[in-house]
Amino acid sequence: MKKLISIDHLEIGMFLEAEVATKVENGAERSFLQVCNALPSLFTTRKARLTGRMDALIAQQGGLLIKTQKHIHSLRATGVKMVSIDTDKGRDLPDHVQPITDPKRTPPPEGRLVHFNEEIKRAKQARAQSIATIRETLTDIASGKGVDMVKVQSASEIITESILRNMDAMVSLTRIKQHDPYTAVHCINVCTLVVAMAQAGRVEQEKLPMIVAATMLHDIGKTMVPLKILNKPGPFESNELEEMRRHALYSSEILREAGGFSEEAIAIASQHHELLDGSGYPLGLKGDEIHPFARMTAVADVYDALTSRRVYKPSMPMYQALLQIHKKKGIEFDESAVNLIVKALGIFPVGSLVALNTGERGMVFEPNPMDSRKPTVGVLTMPNQKLRGAPLIMNLARRSEAGGREITKALDPVKLDVDVEATIDAIAKRGERTERRMR
Ligand SMILES: [Fe+2]
Ligand SMILES: [Fe+2]
Repeated sequence: MKKLISIDHLEIGMFLEAEVATKVENGAERSFLQVCNALPSLFTTRKARLTGRMDALIAQQGGLLIKTQKHIHSLRATGVKMVSIDTDKGRDLPDHVQPITDPKRTPPPEGRLVHFNEEIKRAKQARAQSIATIRETLTDIASGKGVDMVKVQSASEIITESILRNMDAMVSLTRIKQHDPYTAVHCINVCTLVVAMAQAGRVEQEKLPMIVAATMLHDIGKTMVPLKILNKPGPFESNELEEMRRHALYSSEILREAGGFSEEAIAIASQHHELLDGSGYPLGLKGDEIHPFARMTAVADVYDALTSRRVYKPSMPMYQALLQIHKKKGIEFDESAVNLIVKALGIFPVGSLVALNTGERGMVFEPNPMDSRKPTVGVLTMPNQKLRGAPLIMNLARRSEAGGREITKALDPVKLDVDVEATIDAIAKRGERTERRMR
């Protein structure tokens, strides 16, 4: 049986699924050890780090039987985090260790290494840890200290890994918007959305950690804006607006000073409010003058702002925010960036309250990356709108479960007085009970 496991659990006697592949890099052909077929470009490493003997063995055996600690050390040194083992050809995991994904279940959807509900707990932890890092970084900068690159890099790694395992889990959490004076939650939401858009748009995976780090800190320049302007609820005077708009430049200056950020990363920070038609700020750049990653960040930034509650405005339902962005596609927002955010979130993002063709109401609980119109929903009411005793969970893509049910439109949870988080929790609890019963 094939199992995806953490490199930390790799032991002597296990059979590693691996093959030697070649790839052209900087004009030269290089050999790579490929240890995870689902995401070849991330889980590769230079042949030079492995002995010729290991290569020969891999070619012979179609994998590598781990015989010495040296094999494990060489693999760890490459930075690989997950590997796939074949338990028919080597040792299995000890009983108390869980694989990353349950090999007895149907394989996860295409492009995902694990199922949504296998990743969601890890994604929540990764999110909490990264929000804490952003808060600390913002406080450090505000108090005149520099950016702690080690902390930022480790937060960036855990977000990237979670998104690579199953991006829908982290993306679904962007619906959570605590009120946060230091904008850490906004930063993590924008970061998650942009990296998921990059992943959906097949941006080279080597670039993802850079995109995560830069988007996580895209608004860090706000720490340089005087608090009385930053926290002002009413409309700005023109000089205040000018200062507020300078935060993008401040962000890029902070990143430049921190060192270790590429020009692409700095462009994300300085250009994240520039718009395609030149109506953005701070420089009024147009079209191609704006870096493609900054164009993606601009879309994610506006989406998060629209769907967040502010002192001066209520939050907009997710579908309405997507519609509003869609209307400005090709005018203010880059067309492909708009398509990518829809791909990353789905037409009905997790937490959307929806009406079904039966008259029932439901809440989107788990996305369906293969067909975003048919996610898994928790049906909350009867056709006459009477609340059900417990939500009825069904995958709308499975005819046997859905019984012809389809989503007809999205509804506004605020207007209908539905608490999204409490409802999602109730659906999750119901789902856990159902899963336990089926085992
Ligand atoms: Fe900003
Ligand atoms: Fe922002």
